[in-house]
Amino acid sequence: LSSTFAASWLAAPQACAAQYSVTSPLIVKFSHVVAEDTPKGKAALFFKTRLESLSRGLIRVEVYPNSQLYRDREELEALQLGAVQILAPSLAKFAPLGVREFEIFDLPFLFDDAAQMHAVTSGDIGKSLLKKLESRGIKGLAYWDNGFKQMSANKPLRLPDDLRGLKMRIQPSRVLDAQMRAVGATPQVTAFSEVYQTLQTGLADGTENPASNFWTQRLHEVQKYLTLSDHGYLGYAVIVNRKFWEGLDRDIRLIMQQAMDDATRFANEIARKENDEALLKIKAAGKTQVLSLSANERAAWRLSMMRVHQLFTSSQDRDLIRAIYGQTG
Ligand code: LMR
Repeated sequence: LSSTFAASWLAAPQACAAQYSVTSPLIVKFSHVVAEDTPKGKAALFFKTRLESLSRGLIRVEVYPNSQLYRDREELEALQLGAVQILAPSLAKFAPLGVREFEIFDLPFLFDDAAQMHAVTSGDIGKSLLKKLESRGIKGLAYWDNGFKQMSANKPLRLPDDLRGLKMRIQPSRVLDAQMRAVGATPQVTAFSEVYQTLQTGLADGTENPASNFWTQRLHEVQKYLTLSDHGYLGYAVIVNRKFWEGLDRDIRLIMQQAMDDATRFANEIARKENDEALLKIKAAGKTQVLSLSANERAAWRLSMMRVHQLFTSSQDRDLIRAIYGQTG
């Protein structure tokens, strides 16, 4: 926070935001689709606590986890209508806004580690993609980590060919559609809130997600095998309704940005640990056999899936893929 602003805010917060008070606070609704006990769930609660503290109660954040308020398909429209103020959708879910470039982040084996992802999202590429949301009435504030995705099914998946003929639940991304088809599987898009039921009823045979989502959605109860493939990355863009954001008093916007910056640091600090702990819980539950890949097996996954990169030939996609490669070295 700028020192002058901080000083004036601390001296007389009410003066900075005359129209709000502790008894009549500004209400900010934050909706998301995952459990609270996940990197995104915990970061949303961190943001709530931080912003309510910084605003000294002039702002109240209502967090609605687990698709309680809006499910996948509804949340973006609700944000654009102003029915909710903040979301943090997976980067695989921005196609309905016509900003399909985020799906390039779904490319298998695009990143070797979170640091490479951060180099892209914190640099010009990340900033330019968030900028594209503004013409859709959305302001992008940050990128939050979840982690590398693992592949699951009710049969052991050691080599890509083991996926042949399986129906695999994916997020609504053309890249993930191509990824599953590249290994002979049939992609099946369903909302995150329906994944457990989709697997339990056999509508899908398997899916992919980081361990934190696999565990908190209880997928270990309906998936016999989990392969530690680390084949793709799942991250989020934290977005707000642009009209809401630009309509805020400058001082309120400043403290909201501060709370978001702090929550982003928190999210990216805990994400790896949350996924490691979730994996230990999956193993301890003993319902899902966790398979590690040998170097040769992993090379086979990479070889079969890297073909997906070649499918995206539009100049826009090629430029973005080249820029990401350039950024990750
Ligand atoms: C999924 O739909 O699998 C994920 O995008 C859910 C999430 O928000 O992590």
